[in-house]
Amino acid sequence: MAFSFSTLFSKESKSVLGVDIGTSSIKIVQLRKDHGRVVLETYGAIALGPYANTDIGRSTSLPADKISEALKDVMREANVTTTDAGISIPYASSLISIFSLPASAEKQLASIVPIEARKYIPVPINEVMLDWFVIGDNAETKSDKIEVMLVAIHNDTIAKFRSIASDAALTVSFFEIEVFSAVRAAIDRGIAPIAVIDIGAASTKFYVVERGIIHESHIISHGSQDLTLAASRALGVTVAQAEERKRKYGLTGQPSISAGGESANVTQGIAELHKSLELSISPLVSELSRTVTAYQTRTNQLLTALVFTGGGATLKGFKEFVESKIQSEIRLADPFNKTQAPAFLEAILKEAGPEFCVAVGLALRRLQEIE
Ligand SMILES: Nc1ncnc2c1ncn2[C@@H]1O[C@H](COP(=O)(O)OP(=O)(O)OP(=O)(O)O)[C@@H](O)[C@H]1O
Ligand SMILES: [Mg+2]
Repeated sequence: MAFSFSTLFSKESKSVLGVDIGTSSIKIVQLRKDHGRVVLETYGAIALGPYANTDIGRSTSLPADKISEALKDVMREANVTTTDAGISIPYASSLISIFSLPASAEKQLASIVPIEARKYIPVPINEVMLDWFVIGDNAETKSDKIEVMLVAIHNDTIAKFRSIASDAALTVSFFEIEVFSAVRAAIDRGIAPIAVIDIGAASTKFYVVERGIIHESHIISHGSQDLTLAASRALGVTVAQAEERKRKYGLTGQPSISAGGESANVTQGIAELHKSLELSISPLVSELSRTVTAYQTRTNQLLTALVFTGGGATLKGFKEFVESKIQSEIRLADPFNKTQAPAFLEAILKEAGPEFCVAVGLALRRLQEIE
């Protein structure tokens, strides 16, 4: 899928590209600043399955050269016109921990954090790239401690992504762990805690954001490909057919009641598909529900909303289904609402939004940098 309308806009300022390399697909978004407004120039996605001899929608584990081949293909299809990019690093390839230090340590963090990090990082410190932020304001909480968020990425991971980028002739200004990109694009800065939940192909990532800071993050090992695999078994169709039906009908799709002998079969097929999708999505929704309850009990704070991102959240009828199971406010991320695009694309962009959250977040950060 790709769409380009950069020719509709005059070229004035620099264009930037957000590149989200997921396990099942690559998503890209090109943005530009124009008179203070963020303009969407082009976007696109490409499934990695075919590059790994497997089906569309399935998670893959590809070497750098195959990934850069796919990246070049989607950049060409989407008519990308810039090489100035930000790339996300998978959450699973990173390590994030939060620990507290005496407030007096704040001035010597550069020497203290790498030592402290040894307690939290299971590999030698010289094998990782370390980054850290002080979160929470101890002046505000009148505490004599500061909270530090530590982020570590293995050097091999960075090397792999660097080689993908250089193969695709991109100049990368930063690598960012996808959680930060997703959160930037999914929510507006607010005070109350919100959960951002990214449903990918093989796994689901759960983040809690409070005062713009990520307070919790973890992975649940259920993803949208589980639905496809279960539907393929239940309906006795190929994985590719199951994926197509999942996307076409989801949990709501009604066949157009046309004349012809097949419509009863089609209706029955869709009822079976719904049953299978509901059955296979239920463990994920239950686990999310437990995670939400556990967070609220432990912190004695209510999550004001659950904001869903990732391709898995674009399943038709998903929002209504989750609403019927979890009491919190449920929203689908709409990252393109932070951008200007032709009106005729509004509905398409709203629907595709959750899938492009990370890519939009990356491009937004790059725009902020060059401002
Ligand atoms: N319209 C749709 N309806 C239902 N499911 C969809 C739809 N579009 C994509 N998906 C599912 O979304 C999943 C991919 O989502 P996404 O692109 O966010 O994953 P990813 O970024 O590759 O994975 P990860 O973040 O876990 O590495 C696939 O399993 C696919 O089947
Ligand atoms: Mg992803």
